[in-house]
Amino acid sequence: MTFGVAGGRMLRMNGLFRWAGGKGRIADKLFAHIDTRQAEQHPARAPRWIEPFVGGGAMALEAMRRGLAHKYILADASADVMSVYETLYQDAPSLLLELRRFQAMPKTMQQTQFLWQRRQVTDCMFTCLRAMRLLILQACGFNGLYRVNKSGVYNVPFGRCATFDFELLAEAVKRLREHEVKLLTQDFEQTTALAGPGDIVYADPPYLGTHSAYTAQGFNVETHRRLAAALWRAASRDVVCWLSGSDCEETRAVYGGTVYSIPVSRSMSCKGATRGTKTELLIRIGS
Ligand SMILES: C[S@@+](CC[C@H](N)C(=O)[O-])C[C@H]1O[C@@H](n2cnc3c(N)ncnc32)[C@H](O)[C@@H]1O
Repeated sequence: MTFGVAGGRMLRMNGLFRWAGGKGRIADKLFAHIDTRQAEQHPARAPRWIEPFVGGGAMALEAMRRGLAHKYILADASADVMSVYETLYQDAPSLLLELRRFQAMPKTMQQTQFLWQRRQVTDCMFTCLRAMRLLILQACGFNGLYRVNKSGVYNVPFGRCATFDFELLAEAVKRLREHEVKLLTQDFEQTTALAGPGDIVYADPPYLGTHSAYTAQGFNVETHRRLAAALWRAASRDVVCWLSGSDCEETRAVYGGTVYSIPVSRSMSCKGATRGTKTELLIRIGS
């Protein structure tokens, strides 16, 4: 996804950090379907872009680059994730300085820091320290995986030395600060309930049958049914609702709506389906 030009090179932005299920690589394909004209023409108000599962933010940052809305509500149930947005929005220079210091450390020191950060209990942490911790874990964790156990403890082993793309982080900060952005740490149902006529909701939940250990609660079929109900309720209020999901019968059955097949290069699968399927679904909920 093209994000901007800096220092003469075209920057590509796959989100603020590596994140399982991140939409950076297919954002253009998704935006080819997400038609905002309907929202723009709505008499009620200028549309807001609302993302209840913002994760690494690839879609929100691309929506900002495309100028799709002036106001954004970015939310996620993970306080770790939201701490990064809050810190970049409010105190980016200190965070970027600390990341530069970390990146300059030799591998053994990074590994020791990573293992120390992994053990930290985040509940009472200052937001900026929490953000720093997530970015270090994401940069150094094996395969860029973020996974917590049922007690909410991050349990990915050390993988490699950190390399942060400071140009991209600076560009992301600029995008966030250019817009009116509300950041919320909460369950999707509360976020979806905020949407009104003409707003656009893009929901990208953990997929059925794939990685769902972003939070201690996980995300099962019942949670998908709860999400489907929340999106259909929003659609009945004239909200333009879109959902990404894995390409399987269960997703189609749970959500209904108008289904588009999106080709992807990574493998996606539902339980019982063949791994290596090269499509996922984009679903328009409502009429
Ligand atoms: C597939 S990822 C989103 C990826 C994002 N679109 C991107 O491009 O990086 C799913 C996100 O849902 C969040 N999540 C899990 N359960 C949730 C819940 N009940 N309410 C809100 N967010 C939740 C996870 O923390 C994770 O960030």
